[in-house]
Amino acid sequence: ISVDWDAVTAEKGGFDHFMLKEIHEQPKAYRDTMRGRIDEAGQSVVFPGLNLTEEKIRSLNNVHIVACGTAYHAGLVGGTVIEQLVRIPVANDVASEYRYSSPLVTPETLVIVVSQSGETADTLAALREAKSKGAHVLAITNVVGSSIARDADDVIATLAGPEIAVASTKAYTSQLIAFYLFGLYLAQVRGTKNSDEVAHVIAALQSLPEQVESMLANVDAIKAYAEEIASHQNLFFIGRGMDYAVVQEGSLKLKEISYIHSEAYAAGELKHGTLALIEEGIPVIALATQEAVLEKTVSNIKEVKARGAAVMAITHEEHVTDLLRSVDQALSIPKTLPLLTPALSVVPLQLLAYYTSLARGNDVDKPRNLAKSVTVE
Ligand code: G6P
Repeated sequence: ISVDWDAVTAEKGGFDHFMLKEIHEQPKAYRDTMRGRIDEAGQSVVFPGLNLTEEKIRSLNNVHIVACGTAYHAGLVGGTVIEQLVRIPVANDVASEYRYSSPLVTPETLVIVVSQSGETADTLAALREAKSKGAHVLAITNVVGSSIARDADDVIATLAGPEIAVASTKAYTSQLIAFYLFGLYLAQVRGTKNSDEVAHVIAALQSLPEQVESMLANVDAIKAYAEEIASHQNLFFIGRGMDYAVVQEGSLKLKEISYIHSEAYAAGELKHGTLALIEEGIPVIALATQEAVLEKTVSNIKEVKARGAAVMAITHEEHVTDLLRSVDQALSIPKTLPLLTPALSVVPLQLLAYYTSLARGNDVDKPRNLAKSVTVE
């Protein structure tokens, strides 16, 4: 008997591509990254083994978050999370800029570097620059034996498992989970959130894996939409607040593997230039999940609609009917706390990138010109 067996097919575990497999592994990655970091009663976050003392946490004046690519985008969400939960100023930067910017770092600065591989040359250099100036450096990484993990003062491991596809998915979302947990931990120590508030966020975090599972069970609409946009050369993403952070990642994902030119804009900024590029039929994807600014986002949607854009909105079920008065199509995502929404809203954008790449006949897992890990400057 001869058995056809190919190691790569086996590793894909029944999925056509590593990227799709990794998108589907996200519920597990969320659970794994949370495991051991929430007390049994679900009341508080624990980080056993952290060198960052409570005294040091109380003395911090500011936080810098430094990374590249998708990890930088996770840091954008993380920055808002820390500012909201801890009320401490956070600055985000890409590592290739940060390392040469003579960063304003003091021993009261916490520098968080984020890296899936832990080997990105610019991120490693930024870490060393921050350390040389006396900052405490915490690495959020998926590879515990990596150069970045070794050089950092502290490591929070994202337990996403190996990520093979060049386009990062489960590494990004597990970085978000790490930021939620760490933000809560800082808030506990500095007393900026009381125990009820912390427990409330923890309960919502623990519901995320099931909510992602429900989204993954229902991908037909996003697949159909991907087939629609696959023939376009340009498109735009818009959003406000947390939605703006997420559309930057959605746009990068789409660019990386579909090779369609796309830009992510803060919805309110469109009228300061980009609106000139909106013409008849151009696809605009509006992420509209942040209730506090929903009305404002809707008025931006109307601005692009009035210039002929074809708008797809991603929002919560309760807003679909209303939004359909201003957009061409709408998709809904499950509801969670506004701060946690990125861990759900990015999923349809990952799927959109995947199915668009597929529809264009591209090599989904190995896009042209890109590497999984960039270890040279
Ligand atoms: C490369 C990859 C990206 C990744 C970036 C940072 O450009 O193609 O997917 O986001 O490096 O990688 P890191 O391993 O530091 O997260």
